[in-house]
Amino acid sequence: MIHAMTAVTIRPVHLPDDRARLLALDRSFTTGQVYQVAGTARSFALEAVAVQPALHKDFPLEDDLGEGRTWEQGVVAEQADERIAGFAAWSHRRWNRRTELWHLYVAPEARGSGLGRTLIHVVVTAAQAAGMRCVWLETSTVAYPAIQFYRRMGFVWCGLDVSLYDPAGGAAQETALYFTRPLLDGGA
Ligand SMILES: CC(C)(COP(=O)(O)OP(=O)(O)OC[C@H]1O[C@@H](n2cnc3c(N)ncnc32)[C@H](O)[C@@H]1OP(=O)(O)O)[C@@H](O)C(=O)NCCC(=O)NCCS
Repeated sequence: MIHAMTAVTIRPVHLPDDRARLLALDRSFTTGQVYQVAGTARSFALEAVAVQPALHKDFPLEDDLGEGRTWEQGVVAEQADERIAGFAAWSHRRWNRRTELWHLYVAPEARGSGLGRTLIHVVVTAAQAAGMRCVWLETSTVAYPAIQFYRRMGFVWCGLDVSLYDPAGGAAQETALYFTRPLLDGGA
């Protein structure tokens, strides 16, 4: 598949051959807005708040490219010079017919040109072909730009986990958020 706007070729990922070029893909983002979780005894709500200075976050990938990786299938968007401009990776969970999207990144210089949309289309098409009923993903409260993108792609907020990230770890200020995109009538 050729993505016309950026002249990249979408093809299955090959590991370990693609490993070094995947790690060279800039997966980070910077945002001046994040979400905060406002919780009561019986409810949670998301509130958008400004952050200053802007927050920069990177996504680790090195530990998820080996034999024990969380995902089963993936595609890369490869440029003519063989650099990788995008990556999406997912798994189909048969027991609940849910596709889990584990990785989605577009290189900064290619963002805003529709490549993320194309990669989501590839994931959705694969999920439909595998008989799945929805695509699901985990992100976090700081991934404000990606959440705007996911909502634009038809994903809806379906849950959170306020205790997932270790307060002593790198994501201490973040809360895990989950989004889903139904694929069939009645799917969620
Ligand atoms: C999130 C990401 C994959 C989006 O990819 P992209 O190629 O820039 O997105 P597209 O150009 O295909 O945008 C598709 C639509 O989403 C919208 N969109 C994309 N980013 C947006 C943002 N930050 N805010 C609002 N809308 C946004 C676009 O305007 C476009 O809308 P349209 O329907 O009007 O055309 C990319 O920005 C990225 O890799 N970010 C860093 C890594 C990351 O956060 N990954 C997600 C981890 S959970």
